[in-house]
Amino acid sequence: MGAGPDGLEPGRGTAQAAVRYGIDFAATADRTGFTGTAGQTLVLELPVSHSPDSVWANLASAVILVGTGDGSPADHRQAGAALAGKARGRGSVTVSWGGESEAVTQGLVQGYLLGAYQPVKYGQGGRAARSPKKGTGDLTLLGSYSQAALDRARTMAVATALARDLGNWPSNWKTPATFADRAAAAAAGRGSVRVTSFGPDEVAALGMGGLVAVGSAAWRGPAADPSRGPRLLLATHTPKGVKGAPHIAIVGKGITFDSGGLDIKPPSGMAAMKTDMAGGATALAVVLAAAELAVPAKVTAVVPLAQNSVGAGSYRPGDVVTVYGGTTVEVGDTDAEGRLVLADALAYATATLGPDYLIDIATLTGAAKVALGPRAGAVFSSDGTLAARIEESGAALGESWWRLPLPEDLEEALVSENADLSSTAKSGVGAGAVTAALFLRRFAGSTRWAHLDVAGPARAASARDWTAPGATGFGVHTLTALVERLA
Ligand code: BES
Ligand code: MN
Ligand code: ZN
Repeated sequence: MGAGPDGLEPGRGTAQAAVRYGIDFAATADRTGFTGTAGQTLVLELPVSHSPDSVWANLASAVILVGTGDGSPADHRQAGAALAGKARGRGSVTVSWGGESEAVTQGLVQGYLLGAYQPVKYGQGGRAARSPKKGTGDLTLLGSYSQAALDRARTMAVATALARDLGNWPSNWKTPATFADRAAAAAAGRGSVRVTSFGPDEVAALGMGGLVAVGSAAWRGPAADPSRGPRLLLATHTPKGVKGAPHIAIVGKGITFDSGGLDIKPPSGMAAMKTDMAGGATALAVVLAAAELAVPAKVTAVVPLAQNSVGAGSYRPGDVVTVYGGTTVEVGDTDAEGRLVLADALAYATATLGPDYLIDIATLTGAAKVALGPRAGAVFSSDGTLAARIEESGAALGESWWRLPLPEDLEEALVSENADLSSTAKSGVGAGAVTAALFLRRFAGSTRWAHLDVAGPARAASARDWTAPGATGFGVHTLTALVERLA
């Protein structure tokens, strides 16, 4: 039910439901203060009767009134999420529906499916399970709706759930190798997707000095573990029978755990760092969503995977590493590891894939979170059109982005005496998210490029709207819609 200018407005099908259940919904709403604002709910528990002659026989166990506010897609997303919350543990849900626009249908289903996400619980040996009791049942739309809108919502929600699961996966089990295995498993059966990865020795042979340096403590130290060695994962969706399809490369940061390295993080900063591969998970999820939706563009996820550890094999502040393509970088701080692995991946993507668009997404800087807070992502791009398309794609689907600048005069902050450039800006410059973006820009060449810093929104501290605590999968909706638009 919506909140119209003249008070409560019943949604489609409400009249039929009123007759079927013999309930005056308007009077009931009035008596309980239900006004129809987006996401407001009123649960009417119905009596259970085992007598076939009872008026309560063969009815649903509850009727849930859900506020749809002004009727917009955004308010329906809110409504869907609220409905999922109330539907938890109840079995299937039937919604009276029909005649709404595609965007409104997509909003409702998106909110419901994202709100229904349940984190997995881990048992012995890392076995994952979701509690069936706390699950949310299937959603049935009673009436007419756009199948395409429903499919888009479902595909993006499934992709988001994968990104969330990967982010929430504990780092004792999540390694570069196991991440790559899960990527391959997730792509199995999708004919248009090919997944490959380069192992530690291949990455080294390719000249990816940033990825090797960051991943070396976990790989080459005394407690060497081949599964934890650095890796480069590639997943490509190639549309069938499309000539001249544009190629979009999405580079996603894949740090399976970020301890900070020798510049070790304090406990408060380290606790959340199992989600430091959120960008990589999003890149992978977008490729799978693009395949499912048969997007007529080629989309490649490029995910540099490494665990930033402390050990005898650690790289050090002051080290000079040579990244893919030959640029030398002086390591300013071993906790600025994301930009080093992204430098390799961006340079590799530019040189070997020749994409039309190059987008990177990363939990890159605490400074981005300080600037924009925990729910908005930062967009950096020299291309105003691309930046605007990213912001619009996100805004339409409930992900908020703000563009931050790339001021030329801050370039000099990255000058190094010992290498082509320094990985971190000189102290006192400030603007940590901006100087990180300026660093990355050096590796995108002349390709149309955008950098997305999701250090804030990739993770949620508490439940809110359609987001559970933990990894959020932020960016999956934006980038899936973006590749649809660019195709
Ligand atoms: N993964 C962190 C950034 C981060 C911080 C993500 C908080 C999510 C929440 C990144 O690798 C990092 O440590 N960045 C440093 C860079 C600094 C050393 C120049 C930071 O932001 O402090
Ligand atoms: Mn770090
Ligand atoms: Zn990091």
